[in-house]
Amino acid sequence: MKLDHLGVAVKSLDEALRFYRDLLGLEVTAVEEVPSEKVRLAMLPVGDTRIELLEATSEDSAVARFIAKRGEGLHHVSLRVPDLAAAVARLKAAGARLVSEQPGTGARGHRYVFVHPQSAGGVLLELVEGSDD
Ligand code: CO
Repeated sequence: MKLDHLGVAVKSLDEALRFYRDLLGLEVTAVEEVPSEKVRLAMLPVGDTRIELLEATSEDSAVARFIAKRGEGLHHVSLRVPDLAAAVARLKAAGARLVSEQPGTGARGHRYVFVHPQSAGGVLLELVEGSDD
């Protein structure tokens, strides 16, 4: 298992990039829109992991609701697992609370599920399937 990325909810992707890319000096490897999640995101590699900056593209996006409630900030922690179905089955069998029962398909076709903070020590946890990119 690896730390795939840290998701940070921001009001403005362009503004956040002025800090993370232009001031801090991180590289941006991808900027893309994920219509199913109603977000636009930028991926910024940091060592073996990445920071994912998330901007809502709609008022009813989970990221918009998060920002309305708590302001900008750390939104989720994403772990990469080799076998998502097995991980989900194990969690479900143990009664863990998942945000949705069916895995979604995100950026670059990666399959993922979100585990509710209630089951993960107060952290929204994203499990994403994959080996090394
Ligand atoms: Co993510």
